Amino acid sequence: MEIKENFSLLSHNTFGIDVSTRWFISYDNEDELKKVLSDEYFLSQSVFHIGEGSNLLFFSDYEGIILHSKIQDMEILEENSESVTVKVGAGTSWDTWVEYAVSKSWGGMENLSGIPGEVGASAVQNIGAYGCEVKDVITEVEAYDIQTGEKQIFSCEECKYSYRESIFKKNWKGKYIITHVIFRLSKKTAYNLEYGNLKEMLSGCEINLRTIRNAVISIRESKLPDPKKMGNAGSFFMNPMVKKSQYDELKKKYPSIPSFTVSDNYEKIPAAWLIDQCGLKGFQSGNVAVHDKQPLVLVNKGGAVGEEIFSLAQMVQKEVKEKFGIEIVPEVTYVL
Ligand code: EPU
Repeated sequence: MEIKENFSLLSHNTFGIDVSTRWFISYDNEDELKKVLSDEYFLSQSVFHIGEGSNLLFFSDYEGIILHSKIQDMEILEENSESVTVKVGAGTSWDTWVEYAVSKSWGGMENLSGIPGEVGASAVQNIGAYGCEVKDVITEVEAYDIQTGEKQIFSCEECKYSYRESIFKKNWKGKYIITHVIFRLSKKTAYNLEYGNLKEMLSGCEINLRTIRNAVISIRESKLPDPKKMGNAGSFFMNPMVKKSQYDELKKKYPSIPSFTVSDNYEKIPAAWLIDQCGLKGFQSGNVAVHDKQPLVLVNKGGAVGEEIFSLAQMVQKEVKEKFGIEIVPEVTYVL
């Protein structure tokens, strides 16, 4: 276990916001976590658990304890000719896990290649890309109750997953610490190439888990800025869902409006398109900007503070609301 006082979070948030925390504790296993959770001083402090900090916006120095998991074990729980069930430590880098699965020819996560973050956070956030969501491969989530220190195992249904949502972001926000996620992956060849230009990218190539992974990584690299070069947290906003009646009205006014049908009653509209239509692509204000290749991403051009990104986000939300009557909601978590 590592405990650090007045610790800089600069390399622990991909927005590159220069803040620090009073305490930073990283633990290597469940026993160490249990020790932390039974400590009286710990329980008297405000606590925030981070993964790789790829979806967070810090506003100021954190006056409590930032916890970070280094649980990175991997265990096969069950294997047969059709599938494999694997338990993975929450502190494992997400893409290390995807790469490992692809190298073993275990399918189901290849479309989620190249996403920054860690395994534990993937189960909180229900990460998704190219027509797949992590909920489709999660069977169970193991977590500790921060207040009681008790371990609980939740089924995928109990996690109440939906688009970029889970019970860990809502009713149970700040209540549990995820230690392991259990995944069931397929040994059969079933690929999902329907989203965007994935099929196009793969035309003429042999299609397998490896080529899909490579295509996804290269599409991501062409659209999304590298946080090591320019601070960002991937998509800043979620794609809004609107009622079919509202969508039909918009379609009359903007015949080229793109959308994905969610159900008979709802359509999802790309926030990137809405922001683009407001003329905000590439808009810069001081140290912050709307990315010029993907307007869903807000970027730190260097030296930005959290408030600047927040103000830009509010301006974008206001413009979209005024033009389309649609509220776009941040996917990024604000740490106040
Ligand atoms: N678009 C524009 N102008 C632009 C860019 C995009 O109008 O400059 C429109 C296009 O119509 C395009 C549509 O927006 O077809 C959607 O764009 P894209 O396919 O790039 O996907 P997205 O909706 O912007 C979502 C996820 C991404 C994920 C991609 C690929 C959300 C909030 N974001 O983005 O996730 O990688 O799909 O599946 O759902 C992330 O969460 O950090 C993230 C990057």
